[in-house]
Amino acid sequence: MTKKVVLAYSGGLDTSVAIRWLNDKGWDVIAFTVDLGEKKDLDTIQQRALKTGASAAYVADGREAFLNLFVWPSLQAGAIYEKQYPLATALGRPLIAAMLVQVARREGATAIAHGCTGKGNDQVRFDVAAAALAPELEVVAPVREWGMNRDDEIEYAQKHGIEVPATVRSPYSTDENLWGRSIEAGVLEDPWAEPPADVYAWTADPRECPDEPAYVEIGFKSGIPSMLDGRPAGPLELVTALNRLGGRHGVGRIDHLENRLIGIKSREIYEAPAAVLLLQAHQALEDITLPKEVARFKEQVAQQWAQMVYDGLWFSPLRDALYAFVVETQAHVDGEVRLKLFKGSSQVVGRKSPSQLYQLSLATYGKGDAFDQSAAAGFIKLWGLGVRTASQVQGRLHAQDLQHLLRDVKRLAP
Ligand code: ARG
Repeated sequence: MTKKVVLAYSGGLDTSVAIRWLNDKGWDVIAFTVDLGEKKDLDTIQQRALKTGASAAYVADGREAFLNLFVWPSLQAGAIYEKQYPLATALGRPLIAAMLVQVARREGATAIAHGCTGKGNDQVRFDVAAAALAPELEVVAPVREWGMNRDDEIEYAQKHGIEVPATVRSPYSTDENLWGRSIEAGVLEDPWAEPPADVYAWTADPRECPDEPAYVEIGFKSGIPSMLDGRPAGPLELVTALNRLGGRHGVGRIDHLENRLIGIKSREIYEAPAAVLLLQAHQALEDITLPKEVARFKEQVAQQWAQMVYDGLWFSPLRDALYAFVVETQAHVDGEVRLKLFKGSSQVVGRKSPSQLYQLSLATYGKGDAFDQSAAAGFIKLWGLGVRTASQVQGRLHAQDLQHLLRDVKRLAP
C-alpha cells in the first residue's frame, strides 16, 4: 500500500513541482487548495494538480471560516505585528493547516505537506499547527529538502512536462487573502529601494486617487464589525467592500522591515486596506468604551497576540488564555465609527456608542458641567504625596537641571 500525503496546493511553481517530487519519493499525493479570497481560478488549479500527478484534488471555500474564526478574534484583540503588519498571511496558515489535517483524516493519509521554504515563518506555522492538531501526522516540506533554486525548479518542471504557471514571470513572491496581500523578493530585497509601482495590485497611488474624500461608517457589536454605512453586512461583504473602497483611496500600503521568528530580518510590502480601516475603527471604538485600566492592559495583550500569531502559535494554550481576556473586554465595544479616506490616508472623524464612557457632562467646559472641581485638590494632594515626601527627605528633585533655566530672562521693573 502506498502512503498518502495531503499537500497544500496553491497551483504555483513550488507546489506543482512538489507533487511530482513527492510522487517520485513514493507518495500518493492528494492536492488541497483552499480559497481565502485570492480570486484565483480554482478549476484550473484543480485540473493542474491532477495533470501534474495528484491522485485527487480538493478545493474548499475557507473565506467565511477565515474571517469568523481567525480574523475577527485578531481584530478584537487589536493585533498588529511590530506596529505595522495586520498578519494576513500569518492568520491564513493555521486555517489551511487545520483543513489539511481534516482531509488527511478523511483520506487516511499519514502525512501532510506544504511548499514553504526553510527560511520563513510559514513553515513554522504549518508544522506547529499540525503538531497541535494531529501530532501523529508526519509533515513533509519538499522545498525545504530538495535544495533546488528557482531556475532548477523551472528546469525540473520542463523536464517532467509540468506546466509552468504564469506567476513565475513575476519578480516578486506574493501571498494574498481577504485580510491582505504580502509581497517580497526582487528589488524589494534592497531596503533602500522605494517599492516600484508594479508591487501594488490592490491600492491606488495617492496621486491617482479621487480628489474628493470618501466617508464610511462601520458598525460594531461586541467588537465585531457587522454594519456598513448603517446597513447590516456579513463578514465577506464587509471586508470585500472595505478592501475596494480603501484600495481606491490608496489606504493600506505598508512597508515593513520585520523580524522573522527564525532570526532573519526581511523586508515585506503589504496591502491591507480593509484590515487597516477595521483595526483603526475598532481602536477608535475601544477608545470611547473601554475603561482606562482595561485599555492599558489590553495593549500588552494585543502585542502578545500579534507575536503569538506571527510565531505560529495560533493553536496553543496561550491563544485560548488570551482570547478569554479579549472576549471579556469586548462586551461593550458596540457602536459606530466614521472614517474619512483621502489620498492614501484614513482618519477617524466620528465615533459613538450606546455604552460609551465618554460623558459630555463630565468632559464639557461649557454648560451642564457635572464635574466637582473642588474634589480635585484633595485628590492631587494624595496623588503627589510620594514625590513631595521624596523631595523633602532626599533633597529637591532636579535641582541641577533647573539652575540654568532663567539665565536668559529679562526682568523689567517700573
Ligand atoms: N512576512 C509575512 C509573514 O511572515 C508574509 C510571508 C509570505 N510572504 C510572501 N510574499 N509570500 O507573515
